[in-house]
Amino acid sequence: MTLFERSEAIFEDENVLHDDYQPESLEERDEELEQYTAYLQPVINGSQPRNIFLYGKTGVGKTAVTKYLLRHLEEDAKQYDDLTVTTVYLNCEDLTSSYRVAVELVNTFREPSEQISRTGYPLNAVYEKLWAELDQIGGMVLIVLDEVDYIGDDDSILYQLPRARSNEKIEHARIGIIGISNDFKYREKLDPRVEDTLCERELHFPPYDANELQNILEKRAALAFKDGILEGDVVPLCAAFAAQDKGSARQGLDLLLEAGDLARRRNDPVVTEDHVREAKQLLEKQRIEESMKELTSHGHLTLLAVVTATVVDPSQIPFQKQQLYEQYQDLAVATNRDPLGGRAFHNHLAELSMLGILDRTKRNEGRGGGIYYEYEIDVPIDAALSTLEHLHMSDELDMESLRQNAENQGLL
Ligand SMILES: Nc1ncnc2c1ncn2[C@@H]1O[C@H](COP(=O)(O)OP(=O)(O)OP(=O)(O)O)[C@@H](O)[C@H]1O
Ligand SMILES: [Mg+2]
Repeated sequence: MTLFERSEAIFEDENVLHDDYQPESLEERDEELEQYTAYLQPVINGSQPRNIFLYGKTGVGKTAVTKYLLRHLEEDAKQYDDLTVTTVYLNCEDLTSSYRVAVELVNTFREPSEQISRTGYPLNAVYEKLWAELDQIGGMVLIVLDEVDYIGDDDSILYQLPRARSNEKIEHARIGIIGISNDFKYREKLDPRVEDTLCERELHFPPYDANELQNILEKRAALAFKDGILEGDVVPLCAAFAAQDKGSARQGLDLLLEAGDLARRRNDPVVTEDHVREAKQLLEKQRIEESMKELTSHGHLTLLAVVTATVVDPSQIPFQKQQLYEQYQDLAVATNRDPLGGRAFHNHLAELSMLGILDRTKRNEGRGGGIYYEYEIDVPIDAALSTLEHLHMSDELDMESLRQNAENQGLL
């Protein structure tokens, strides 16, 4: 019996929709590309590279544009005999200290047989090795630190690297740093000396609007899907959904991929608007499940309190903390837990808002009324319910009636 068989009715090449695919051309970023290219121009001129700081929300092309430009920069530099350009790309997600980054850099430059271990050297010794490697390579060395905020407070490398030459640690190489981050607060947290050097030149990538996303997605879809497989409104709908949410191209691409995958699994002949709508729900559910894994049981109960309040009386949306707190206390008691105090409960509401599961609005009642927050659920009730139904604690609760009530209220 054949268990696996190639299914090729829908996709020409689905890899084109994956995050690590490098597009040949980039859409809708002409201005940013022009600016970025100008910032990199000194490298081709053989003069000191600028340090560049790139920021913008998730999925707006920061990594894609950077890799695209570095590829061209290395290629175009080859026409000049007196110029050597080396580019290094590091994602700092797993490199949470200057030490880890420095070791990783040394190892990037070394042969596999000469790698150094991740522990055991004093930081200064690792820096010495790094300077030696950089001097040996010589020429222009551009180091990209993507998701640079992960390095955290222990960020001496961001100070040391750009100054290595002026501090006479290296002689033959000129270093440029490109830092990338989607954490808008990161810059403010930097030591002013680090900020001055790292953010010598700055670039901001704004979110994409629906038209821009449509253009980006169309180019990808043409390569990813077989001809005539996408019904006309599929790409515009993916673009519209992604634009409504965060304006992220990744989100639009994920929707297209998931919609295509649904059609493939069901042996449907074409991808339709319905597939996109269903894909959206599936992805949302996954996202909530992912972020909910991080929550404690009181976090889960807090979300359940908001869902319950919503189902009991949707006309009350949005809710103030006190209404939700009472709901939460009842649920805690019903599941044999000691309810948290009001302040700790407030922190859970704040965390759920930060995760994008709740929407929190600040109200200012002016004199005497004071400032307070109102909350409402910011994900489909259905997705929140299905995630909560899978938790252990739901055995002790009547989730079935809750779902039934939600349905009666027209919330599903
Ligand atoms: N202008 C564009 N043209 C073509 N494809 C794009 C464009 N912008 C983004 N993409 C694609 O969208 C996806 C996400 O882009 P990218 O990884 O560059 O986002 P990012 O800004 O680095 O996000 P994060 O902050 O989450 O790392 C990638 O598959 C990328 O190829
Ligand atoms: Mg990125």
